[in-house]
Amino acid sequence: MESYSFVKVFAPATVANVAAGFDVLGFALDNPGDIIELKRISERKVTIKAIHGDSGKLPLVADKNTASFAVSRFLSDIGEPFGVELVIHKRMPLKSGLGSSAASSVGAVFGANKMAGNPLSRKELIQYTMEAERVACGSAHADNTAPAILGGFVLIRSYDPLDVVKLPVPEGLACAVVHPHTEVNTGDARKILKKEISLTKAIRQWGNLAALVAALFMNDLELLSRSLQDVIAEPIRSLLIPGYERVKEAAMMAGALGCSISGSGPSVFALCGNLERAGAVGKSMVEAFDSIGLDSDLYVSRINVEGPRVIEEL
Ligand code: HSE
Repeated sequence: MESYSFVKVFAPATVANVAAGFDVLGFALDNPGDIIELKRISERKVTIKAIHGDSGKLPLVADKNTASFAVSRFLSDIGEPFGVELVIHKRMPLKSGLGSSAASSVGAVFGANKMAGNPLSRKELIQYTMEAERVACGSAHADNTAPAILGGFVLIRSYDPLDVVKLPVPEGLACAVVHPHTEVNTGDARKILKKEISLTKAIRQWGNLAALVAALFMNDLELLSRSLQDVIAEPIRSLLIPGYERVKEAAMMAGALGCSISGSGPSVFALCGNLERAGAVGKSMVEAFDSIGLDSDLYVSRINVEGPRVIEEL
């Protein structure tokens, strides 16, 4: 069994919810993504040596940071006689709806598993990254961490017991994600949602979610387009995103298959039939934010089907 003293990992950003799948559906992106470095240390503890790219906003205290929290729990469960020193390179904005906390915990736990000789499967690692989400926002949802670790589109059929299903990705499918320069705290964006919904809304939502899953299996982009609707979270959360309706309209006019809020926002994603279209759609979305005086960053990406990857190991 090979084991390593240093592992460097890329871990992808993710789009959670994907319109109809609040807390149960997400997909991974090729761009952006975090880089996590892990160094084996003889002392059985997990420390963070440095975090780059977060403007000093993330906690360096091991049990408050999603990456170190996940690795600590993982190492203590597998009983390996070593510790880890982490260096985290944030390559995506915080509190943006791009699964930033998930990318760091996924990169860290994936690297630690590699360092230990891969004792656990990717699916088994999800529990650690999911619990780490509770540290970040008070809720242990898996619709960022499961796709970040498995790649592609992932459905969470059940949380207890955890039952995740990897879904197919239509050839060429691409995404534009636009991050307006404003922050939304996931915990707050969860609190404003209604705790109960009407049967009428539930019927619309599960119809769309089931059709979305069918569209992925059938490679049917027209059905995918019709299914990218959210009648539960989007009507409420879009109020937190200045210019949301204008941006969505710009995306649809430019030929997006569908457009909605990425995770808890404020980023807005648009799925498109190919990468070129995603570039044009993203540009229109940026212009729409611009027109109300809000700067934004654009990420254009294919769907990441492999999840995290090792960049270097020694
Ligand atoms: N499903 C979660 C939410 C994702 O929408 O609150 C947040 O990252």
